[in-house]
Amino acid sequence: MAKPVTQFACTECGTIHKKWTGRCDGCGAWNTIQEEVPLSAGPSKQSLGTAKGRRVALTDLATQEAPPPRTLSGIAEFDRVLGGGLVPASATLVGGDPGIGKSTLLLQAAASFARAGRSTVYISGEEATAQVRMRAQRLGLADSAVRLAAETNLRDILTTLEAERPDLCIVDSVQTMWVDTVDSAPGSVAQVRACAHELTRFAKRFGTAVILVGHVTKEGQIAGPRVVEHMVDTVLYFEGERGHQFRILRAVKNRFGPADEIGVFEMTGAGLSEVANPSALFLGDRERPAPGSVVFAGIEGTRPLLVEIQALVAPSQLAQPRRAVVGWDGARLSMILAVLEARSGITFAGLDVYLNVAGGIRVQEPAADLAVACALLSAREDQGIPPDTVVFGELSLSGALRPVSQAENRLKEAAKLGFTAAMAPEGCKTGDGVISLRTLPDVATLVGEVFGAG
Ligand code: TYD
Ligand code: MG
Repeated sequence: MAKPVTQFACTECGTIHKKWTGRCDGCGAWNTIQEEVPLSAGPSKQSLGTAKGRRVALTDLATQEAPPPRTLSGIAEFDRVLGGGLVPASATLVGGDPGIGKSTLLLQAAASFARAGRSTVYISGEEATAQVRMRAQRLGLADSAVRLAAETNLRDILTTLEAERPDLCIVDSVQTMWVDTVDSAPGSVAQVRACAHELTRFAKRFGTAVILVGHVTKEGQIAGPRVVEHMVDTVLYFEGERGHQFRILRAVKNRFGPADEIGVFEMTGAGLSEVANPSALFLGDRERPAPGSVVFAGIEGTRPLLVEIQALVAPSQLAQPRRAVVGWDGARLSMILAVLEARSGITFAGLDVYLNVAGGIRVQEPAADLAVACALLSAREDQGIPPDTVVFGELSLSGALRPVSQAENRLKEAAKLGFTAAMAPEGCKTGDGVISLRTLPDVATLVGEVFGAG
């Protein structure tokens, strides 16, 4: 029998390498390669091929009964991110940093699901049932009908699940589970993949909605959630800044709904509470508007979201001035600085630049370009933007401003929160005329007319 060949897998992205290397070719991460013993070669318990793989015409499927309706978890923000509730027979991955609140969120969702009369199982591989119960008590859910189990052997778990066939099963976390067919330690790429595969298969066969928890890992000892992203139907990440109580659940992949939806929560002493109007919350603690502060009218998924973007520009003591960003893309900041310099002659050479999105949220839209440019110019020229103004628009390398999607929704949300003016690219229209709109063709006009510089 051929001797099993060892291979090396990246714990970040799962790429398989023949030899150990310091840097993964797949994702470029350093120090994430771990030795893996592959599934043993030789005869295995493979099936000999049955009629199960037979073809079905798509038209036949259409005449079958309609797909079972989604079931609501009862936590509106969670259901929104899922695209309208949990889909039976689906696998969902919820990833996030340790301590961000994944277990709390899912225990709350499980309890709410059970309250609606659905059978729910919560399997913890990290905490004893007594600990989970203590958490439930703290969350005021101690009398919930959720069934708890503390177990890590996937074979045992699946045997129990097959007998019970619950509507929802939560596995916290997939990195603690292990199957005996794989020869490596729990948390290795091979184990995590094998467990995710078995659980996904279980979901499809028995109609259970399975939710897997995956910790984002900092160093390469344990495989991160990214290695199972392609196996599941839906991938959600739970994120937030440590110092802030706001938490954002973000869909990054969704076979059953939009993939850019967010849900906003607030971590309180009694668990996570939903935030129905995040704009008001993110702008709520805004101080007196100062130079460098600009309100960006953004869209997250289907929902408008106003956030404050702050910039600080100061003379640098360093040979290479500092560029620091929180909540936005660092490369995009460099691009905007370069466009401002090349297209309007405003230079940031010799100046440290700090950019911060207030409230601990991460903005990913290019539509924030104009707001960032305004914040940078406002900080550099020490000239405030009127506090009742929102800004949005994408910047191209030529310095021209490009229109962005859902301009009307952005303006409507701004009007709702009491803003009366907006700066936007040419071609935008005011919805109901509550907001006075100032359209700009390019960045040179912004610099010349709005800031009177250049
Ligand atoms: P947890 O759900 O255990 O995080 P994860 O499963 O993602 O590792 O959340 C842990 C943090 O949440 C912990 O620092 C305490 C805090 N927390 C609250 O602030 N309020 C609560 O009601 C609960 C249960 C936790
Ligand atoms: Mg946890």
